[in-house]
Amino acid sequence: MEVIVVDNEQDGAELVADTICNLVAKAPTTVLGLATGSTPSATYAELCKRSEFGLDFSRTTVFMLDEFLGLEPDDDSLYLNSIRSWFTDPVGIPREQVHAPDSCTQDIARECKEYEEKIRAAGGVDLQLLGIGRDGHIAFNEPTSSLGSRTRVKTLTDQSRWDNAEGFNARQAASQALASSIDEETRSTWQPDPEQVPLHVITQGIGTILEAKHLILLANGSHKSDAIAATVEGPITSMVPATALQMHPHATVVVDQQAAAKLQLIDYYQAIHAAKIHLQPRIT
Ligand code: PGA
Repeated sequence: MEVIVVDNEQDGAELVADTICNLVAKAPTTVLGLATGSTPSATYAELCKRSEFGLDFSRTTVFMLDEFLGLEPDDDSLYLNSIRSWFTDPVGIPREQVHAPDSCTQDIARECKEYEEKIRAAGGVDLQLLGIGRDGHIAFNEPTSSLGSRTRVKTLTDQSRWDNAEGFNARQAASQALASSIDEETRSTWQPDPEQVPLHVITQGIGTILEAKHLILLANGSHKSDAIAATVEGPITSMVPATALQMHPHATVVVDQQAAAKLQLIDYYQAIHAAKIHLQPRIT
């Protein structure tokens, strides 16, 4: 596993955007595996900026990691709708090439199976972008998920619902404020409500994720430092699902200073990066 410690979130976003741009420039039909959540949003903003300078994403295919169950197809909180507005629509990836598990269908078991088949039929994921939960989850594979799991329905932990509540609350607050002209000050006092976050999701399994050719896990902030230390330096365990990355032949962890703060070998990772020779792989 390669660990790259960057100064701040924006540097990490630029590095990952460089990697994605190089890949798409070399192979326009690249298959990207994408994550939502707050962590990759700066990367998507960076990619949108770069597409304005002419990089063509129109032949790129996208597979999302996961999706909430129980929301309406036009709900802004669906990850498919988020990625369309943050990244794939602005850079011109046709919607028929952007896939997420369809959580609105009647036959969810069949959808999970077909999602796996769709990824395979596309030739597999070339580059999978991952965030990490503070408990070490990847996608929505919560602690104790099987390290060999495939796409399926999972139940979120209370922590994950809390961590996602802000987005749900902000959207609801915004729409109510629009409807009834509630002022900014009142809106800012509303608290996140985890009950608004669905309890169930469809998520790619850890076994599914490990089949991508290159994994890049991004993390920022001190609230991720325990999870990052366990992921990089701890024993492989389903209690910290991200430790499965230790079994992948090409996994890169890009962390800011705060998220890297509890890594014991941080000086070594920085020395490796500073002394790379041409025989060693590079992220970009
Ligand atoms: P975050 O979520 O990017 O919003 O911190 C990461 C995750 O839960 O995987």
